[in-house]
Amino acid sequence: MTLRRRAKLALIVADWAHVLARQAAVVIDRTPASALRVEGGAPGCRAPIVLLPGIWEPWRLLLPLGRFLAGAGHPVHVVEGLGWNGRELDASAEIVATYLAEHHLRGVFLVAHSKGGLIGKRVMVDADAGPRVRGMIALCSPFGGSSLSLPLLRRSPLGLFAPSGLAIAALASEREVNGRVVSLASAWDEMIPEGSTLPGGRNLALDLAGHFRPLADAGVHELVHRQLHELIESEPPMELTAIAAVGRNGAIGIRGDVPWHIPEDWRRFKAVTMGGSLIMGRKTFELIGAPLPGRTSIVVSRSPREPAAASPVTAEPNQTRVIWVTSLDEAIAAADSSRPIWVAGGAEIYRLAWDRLTGLDICEVDQEPEADTFFPAITDEEWVETSREQREGYAFVRYQRRVS
Ligand SMILES: NC(=O)c1ccc[n+]([C@@H]2O[C@H](COP(=O)([O-])OP(=O)(O)OC[C@H]3O[C@@H](n4cnc5c(N)ncnc54)[C@H](OP(=O)(O)O)[C@@H]3O)[C@@H](O)[C@H]2O)c1
Repeated sequence: MTLRRRAKLALIVADWAHVLARQAAVVIDRTPASALRVEGGAPGCRAPIVLLPGIWEPWRLLLPLGRFLAGAGHPVHVVEGLGWNGRELDASAEIVATYLAEHHLRGVFLVAHSKGGLIGKRVMVDADAGPRVRGMIALCSPFGGSSLSLPLLRRSPLGLFAPSGLAIAALASEREVNGRVVSLASAWDEMIPEGSTLPGGRNLALDLAGHFRPLADAGVHELVHRQLHELIESEPPMELTAIAAVGRNGAIGIRGDVPWHIPEDWRRFKAVTMGGSLIMGRKTFELIGAPLPGRTSIVVSRSPREPAAASPVTAEPNQTRVIWVTSLDEAIAAADSSRPIWVAGGAEIYRLAWDRLTGLDICEVDQEPEADTFFPAITDEEWVETSREQREGYAFVRYQRRVS
């Protein structure tokens, strides 16, 4: 046996001794998931994190890394529904997507180990769950599969990692999200001899060898945190705010009109939205009757009157424009993100945008009028009130989406 082979064997033994000891400790560990949910935290450290373990790894295997990130102020989530994480990829991603939706999580960063990186990328490319995720740090993830996934393992959960398998190929063909993924690869990884390179992603090599030991290494924890902040700073979250006048009963409209006449609300609407982009439904656009001066009206319709816009659209400040689009994605892409983006109704469009809204700017009208269109319920679980200006018969109230 050559020295090189002996050294590799020693590394494998050390890596597996480490993980088996950790697995044994984890079986008796009763640390609750809530231990990773801190209150407050340093400014810039509030971005929620979801930990995604590898195959046959309970979430507590990632506890040292989770504790480090929680200690830095991040609300850290774990998806207990993954259990020992032996399910096939789509089923695992579905569990994570459900968790994100049920916990109203947005602007999330995934921190994943091994198979967790594949699950995370599957979530990022999902049409519904993807927009909730801003980026991912993946540690030792087999984005190109692993040659250790031999044909005889094809029908086992390990068959997922076959380099020529459908799951790996399908995921590899989705390249759009790769730029928001940092892939950290061990100096030598006995479980992924071909490494963890993700084309188009940010690929970094660790000084450390092994598939499991990086999970418990203090230097790796710091690197994960640094990379997380580079991702946070590279792409500031897009602010998307719904603006509406809403009655106590949720009313916003009756027979194509608003159920009240509040001149100050109109004046304020004009002042706060001036220069920005307003996304609205075709019906609301027609009810307003003319393009809103000094703003970009982005009209969502299944049958647009004009060809859908090329994106992104740059306009002079306070230019009056109308852009027709056929979906919310197109509407957001067409908006000039250097200025505020507003969702201006009506009910169908508020509902369509709801999960992607980061804020609400509401004129709360102290009336319960007859209505045929309603605003979605504003709940304390989802929204936190940040300001309130009381007037006679109504109030201007701002809400921010809770981050965890
Ligand atoms: N109180 C307030 O602040 C406020 C604000 C705005 C509006 N309103 C009121 O709300 C009412 C209008 O609201 P509404 O819900 O009936 O209509 P709306 O949301 O303004 O517009 C609905 C239209 O949007 C398009 N659309 C909806 N979902 C779409 C999707 N997934 N993809 C592509 N296009 C889509 C469709 O246009 P096509 O039919 O062309 O396909 C649909 O008919 C009025 O009474 C208005 O006064 C109140």
